[in-house]
Amino acid sequence: WATHAPYVAAILELKKQRNAVILAHNYMTPEIYHGVSDVVGDSLQLAIEAANVEADVIVQCGVHFMAETSKILSPDKTVLIPDMEAGCSLAESITAEGIEQMRAKYPGAPVVSYVNTTAEVKAASDICCTSSNAAQIVAAQDSHTVIMTPDQYLAQNVAKQVPQKNVVWWEGSCIVHERYTAQDLRDFREWNPGTRLIAHPECPPDVVNEADFSGSTSGILKYVTDEKPEKAMLITECSMASNIADQLPEVEFVGPCNMCPYMKKITLEKILWSLHTMTEPVVVDLDVAEKARVAVQRMIDLSQ
Ligand code: 13P
Ligand code: SF4
Repeated sequence: WATHAPYVAAILELKKQRNAVILAHNYMTPEIYHGVSDVVGDSLQLAIEAANVEADVIVQCGVHFMAETSKILSPDKTVLIPDMEAGCSLAESITAEGIEQMRAKYPGAPVVSYVNTTAEVKAASDICCTSSNAAQIVAAQDSHTVIMTPDQYLAQNVAKQVPQKNVVWWEGSCIVHERYTAQDLRDFREWNPGTRLIAHPECPPDVVNEADFSGSTSGILKYVTDEKPEKAMLITECSMASNIADQLPEVEFVGPCNMCPYMKKITLEKILWSLHTMTEPVVVDLDVAEKARVAVQRMIDLSQ
């Protein structure tokens, strides 16, 4: 923390001068999550907060699609991302053309796109979802067949939760969560009896099946807070456990984790530079933003 302290102090001061707020995803490193953020949460919580922000500037500490979502919901605010290279393998896996291909393949079926997509893809979709509301959103669609893009594993996990629907999907995946295997979990259980295994739904279905619980990053936090298991292994990005370990000293967080190279592009140094120079501003074409807002707002309305 000593090395972080000067950056934290400078960021807090500049935040005041710029009338800025920092929205940070649960996968940010602890010095960002605990040290400088105003709001922390999962993708849905951050989107809802972005719509209600009163400050002039939002610094999005997360990945690019999250910053775009904030800009879509708060078009009059300046939305900054400290590193434009903070992408996402899911967002990169599909374009608006891919959505049209799915529509041609399944005529009349609604397109539910994960928020981990570009603004163009959201604009081409009927409604968005996050990992915390995906099953609810799919269940609420009028059609029997529902297209889910771009995460094949989230879609397959949702298909099990909503068996009354014929869920079809795009073949995208998250490079962090696809690396876990069901055998990893079985081995881990054998070597560490009594450990609660908790998986994000971007993991393949056989991994989720081996886990004791599956949920979005805020769902994971809630589960661990409510259950307080003696030992827990979070089958997700590494910072998740680091961020919540302090609040839950009675839980021992164990096991390997996987790092998201995109999330880790955001650092205290880059946040300071971003506030100092007011870069990089996120720009979304107005027509695209208007259409994308409809899809995101439908999701928010259905989730409340
Ligand atoms: P959450 O909505 O669960 O925070 O997930 C976002 C994400 O990118 C997970 O990889
Ligand atoms: Fe994208 Fe996966 Fe990183 Fe989340 S963890 S931002 S889904 S690559």
